[in-house]
Amino acid sequence: MMKAIKGVKDLLPEETPRWRLIEDTAKRWATRYGFQEIRIPIFEATTLFARSIGATTDIVEKEMYTFADRDGTSLTLRPEGTAGTVRAFLEHNRVADPRPQKYYYLGPMFRHERPQAGRLRQFHQFGVESFGISDPRADVEVMSLLWRLLSDLALPGLTLEINNLGFAEDRALYKPILVAFLQGVERRLCGNCQRRIETNPLRVLDCKVPECRQATEDAPRLADSLSQAARDHFDRVTTGLNGIGIPFHLNHRLVRGLDYYCLTAFEVTCSHLGAQNAVGAGGRYDGLVEQLGGAAVPAVGFAVGLERIALMLPQELSLSAVPRVYVAAFGSQAADVGFALLDELRRAGIHGDMDFRAASLKAHLRQADRLGALYSVLLGDDEVAKGSATIRNMQTKEQENFLLSDLRSNLLARLSARP
Ligand code: HAM
Repeated sequence: MMKAIKGVKDLLPEETPRWRLIEDTAKRWATRYGFQEIRIPIFEATTLFARSIGATTDIVEKEMYTFADRDGTSLTLRPEGTAGTVRAFLEHNRVADPRPQKYYYLGPMFRHERPQAGRLRQFHQFGVESFGISDPRADVEVMSLLWRLLSDLALPGLTLEINNLGFAEDRALYKPILVAFLQGVERRLCGNCQRRIETNPLRVLDCKVPECRQATEDAPRLADSLSQAARDHFDRVTTGLNGIGIPFHLNHRLVRGLDYYCLTAFEVTCSHLGAQNAVGAGGRYDGLVEQLGGAAVPAVGFAVGLERIALMLPQELSLSAVPRVYVAAFGSQAADVGFALLDELRRAGIHGDMDFRAASLKAHLRQADRLGALYSVLLGDDEVAKGSATIRNMQTKEQENFLLSDLRSNLLARLSARP
């Protein structure tokens, strides 16, 4: 039997209502905040991701699905949406448009990670990117959008953590100070972090391995190396969050796994999620547009993982397609008349169904019950001869006979009287 690829999941009809609720809520909130939908390609030139996410990040070093196109060009399935959105923003010269450039996207992303609950190789993100505004209120705006939409979904145990990553020059000042400290505790670090001292020392700070956390307990803090401008920006971000009542925690260890961030970095975690507890994350990335060949355009955004949100929604949320009317047509003539009636009901806006396999009234009624229909229309060859049919209330089991010509209006009246 053929099976799906490891870390790649089917979403069966029992699960899709939850996903639709998440997607609709996210889109509604994004629209309310003035973000417009953008649809970017699933694959891009590999260099786009290497240049934006950073050559020494886990994503680029070991998690990308990369393959050669027929002409040898290296292509990669998108591991995230920011790089592609920036590429599109530049390619279509959106910088020249004076209107706010605020985009949202939704779709599959691909990372070759070790699969576990909440961590997949094909996963889905909803993300937003806001271009052109250096004002700290843009940071507050995207964080509040993230917070409001997750709160609207009533997810339990959420925490918004924020940190100030400063400017690239601030981090350049801080790096040798941190490296000197890390070299002193090198033997206590995991293999990955020992390697990171050379390649990406800041990432050691948010390693989840308990020994690494202990060893870096007293590490010098980036906050102490920040310039006044970076501090001022962050102060205005925290003041802004307080001003609109968004609760947050400062986490000086929060260092993002993508290299393009500066100043504000944030993450929303959920205490109910276990090891993969980040529901969503983002930050400011003022240097990225320029790094990819454009002007110096400030930007800020976030992405949430839809699988992780779905894990936190109550299981009983299943709004699957329940027919309101089931057409139980049996007998050679009645089957065809019933099929035409079903078509008429559907065109009138009624959610109706029938089962073409059922041959007897009993089999039809069993199926109507299984599907949860409110009413059944019973139609045998005798009724067809008389031009009538019976409406059965599936809950009370009451039955009433009507002319076929009156059936549609009668059902519409019954259904509109129900919640
Ligand atoms: P990220 O932190 O790499 O950031 O991913 C954002 C979210 O995607 C995570 O918090 C998590 O919920 C979800 N996620 C990531 N990897 C997986 C996985 N393997 N399986 C399931 N869910 C996953 C970004 O991608 C940035 N582009 C966010 C951003 C937008 N920053 C600025 N704008």
